[in-house]
Amino acid sequence: MTRPTDRETPSEPRILDGRRAAAEIRAEVADDVRQLVAAGGRPPGLTAVLVGDDPASQVYVGSKTRASEEAGIVGAVLRLPSETTQVELLATVDGLNADDAVDGILVQLPLPGHLDSSRVLERIDPAKDVDGFHPVSVGRLWLDRETFVPATPSGIVELLERNGVEIEGRRAVIVGRSHLVGKPLAALLLRRNATVTFAHSRTQDLKELCRGAELLVAAIGRPAFFGEEHVAPGTVVVDVGINRLEDRAEVERLFPDRPERLETFERRGSVLVGDVDPRAFARAAAYTPVPGGVGPLTVACLLVNTVRAARRRQGTAAAPGESR
Ligand code: GUN
Repeated sequence: MTRPTDRETPSEPRILDGRRAAAEIRAEVADDVRQLVAAGGRPPGLTAVLVGDDPASQVYVGSKTRASEEAGIVGAVLRLPSETTQVELLATVDGLNADDAVDGILVQLPLPGHLDSSRVLERIDPAKDVDGFHPVSVGRLWLDRETFVPATPSGIVELLERNGVEIEGRRAVIVGRSHLVGKPLAALLLRRNATVTFAHSRTQDLKELCRGAELLVAAIGRPAFFGEEHVAPGTVVVDVGINRLEDRAEVERLFPDRPERLETFERRGSVLVGDVDPRAFARAAAYTPVPGGVGPLTVACLLVNTVRAARRRQGTAAAPGESR
């Protein structure tokens, strides 16, 4: 779909529905778990470590453990107080590394400021690194070796591929160079023969660069930053941002034709918006909505990684091709 020539004839943009793709993946994971158990294996175990009481992190960890359990994975959360020391947290990770029933370990980020997240992530046994943040996992990813790929970029690629969006040979511009999303996504797109450009806060002429993209990935965490001036007609837009809007006038301005968003605002006092101004989606060939685009894939892909970890640890590795 959407070869460059399509740009001359833009039509109604296609919505890349993350909820549907995530439901498919979660059903596949549940099937895989059933097969593993039917073959005499142990159900996979995923333990999340949550330090402190950051409300967003609590929501994310809650949805990860709920989804785990729905797929037959044994999900657990270790809640530690915000004053937990580095030594205590490292000892907790050591305990999980040594626990045979734990296949996947996830330390929810961000950690409180006094903790050194790099050292904590490096302490996780790479065999249990279902987040794919350990330097060994990162190195393997860039070497195109089998590894755990971070869930959000993995989910983006799944969403594109399940919707038949062509990647090979396309000009992809990734705005945002985080370890969690931008960098690993670049590795995945390069592996699929996209021409990848990174952009970030110091990039000059960002609008022009974005307008040259056939695949534009917005991952900077700034509400509605990318407007029509960043999106050329016919672009595929992936919006990774999840930002909370609490200003009624902003909701009215950004969603002029979406009365249901204003209703949500009236009920909850806020609505979610991505990094892309929703009015700019009209120019796209296809786009990921917020909410319901990339977000649901992150949880689904974490479950995929957890079952892979369990299969490897139990010596029942899945079929080749798993280093997606
Ligand atoms: N914080 C935001 N996203 C993530 C994620 O994918 N994994 C972890 N561990 N923390 C996060």
